[in-house]
Amino acid sequence: MNLTDLVGRPVAAIDTPALVIDLDAMQRNLERMQSFATQHGIRLRPHAKMHKSALLALRQMQAGAVGVCVQKPSEAAAMVAGGVTNVYVSNQVISLPKCELLAQLNRRLTAQNGQVSLAVDSLLGIQRIAQAMATQGAGSCMDVYVEIDVGQARCGVPPGQAALPLVQAIAQHASTSGSLRFAGLQAYHGRAQHLRSAAERRAAIAQVVMDVQRTKALIEAAGFAVPLVTGAGSGTFSHETASGVYGELQAGSYLFMDADYAANEADPQQPQFEHALFIKSQVMSRTARSTPGAADERAVVDAGHKSHAIDSGLPTTWAGHGADWVYSNGGDEHGILRGTALPELGDTVWLVPGHCDPTVNLHSHMLGVRGGLVQGSVEEIIRVDARGALT
Ligand SMILES: Cc1ncc(COP(=O)(O)O)c(C=O)c1O
Repeated sequence: MNLTDLVGRPVAAIDTPALVIDLDAMQRNLERMQSFATQHGIRLRPHAKMHKSALLALRQMQAGAVGVCVQKPSEAAAMVAGGVTNVYVSNQVISLPKCELLAQLNRRLTAQNGQVSLAVDSLLGIQRIAQAMATQGAGSCMDVYVEIDVGQARCGVPPGQAALPLVQAIAQHASTSGSLRFAGLQAYHGRAQHLRSAAERRAAIAQVVMDVQRTKALIEAAGFAVPLVTGAGSGTFSHETASGVYGELQAGSYLFMDADYAANEADPQQPQFEHALFIKSQVMSRTARSTPGAADERAVVDAGHKSHAIDSGLPTTWAGHGADWVYSNGGDEHGILRGTALPELGDTVWLVPGHCDPTVNLHSHMLGVRGGLVQGSVEEIIRVDARGALT
């Protein structure tokens, strides 16, 4: 069956395994996050590396987001091709061809009052983007953020003095060619998002905020304005917001809420989000019912780790079933369920992926369902525009 033929059909018509969005839950997540940002007077720039869909990025922007983040120039290109006009690459880019792509996209979007912006953490990175901007001729300028490492131990210079030479180098390009502008600091602590207790997350971000404040003060003392600090994810954004230092939130996963995030202790300061991304699977093999409850009793579903990423843990079964089955890895194409009152051969089982970003990247489409996973019907087919956009 053609995918578009599914539109208007009941959920039961969706073949398995399939990536399904509960559109009602997603909409509630979208509104909760946007109203948090609006109420607190902070910009929201959701991370589109999570859903990789220009359509969903546009919906987030229609609701009030200033633009979206991506991690890769090819993701940025997919967003721009889908009509997104404000894209920030919150990551390091060193290769010249990639910088040239960003410079071209930025030129295109500047003409539409939009922009592409970029993070840097090295003089070479600055030199390369400046070189690429030069090939575009005069008239376009790229916003560049200096990334500081606030605990992720990934990209970024150490907080403090090390950021200053980078700010100076950007300022040099700003004054000579006007091709770059120092737009502020990127400060994102990824590991803090998944610290399980709310107190641990709060403490981690308290340290982050001190590092950001110290770096910002140092840059300002050297005579440079720091227009914006951008960062934060779905696990900690209320703390970055409360600091008063951050001006922009980059949370992404809140829109779909995966099983890994659901394992975090809830934080009363943050809005709560619902699972909105599911794998629809079907029981394809079942041990005989003659031995119910026997140690080897199992139901095998047709979704293995080709259907969902397992880097952050295995999927959970959706509690909406009223049953608590434990999913264990059956390999590429299988998942093995154990528990009580297991589903029967042919039954549908809804799985909540452990990690939404790499799960989405395994699929070319997401099926948007309205009216719930049991009674609802397919409303739209959402393309994963940046699927496989790894460069
Ligand atoms: C730089 C950056 N900002 C923001 C996010 C969004 O985090 P989350 O999806 O956990 O909300 C990520 C996710 O990995 C990221 O790498």
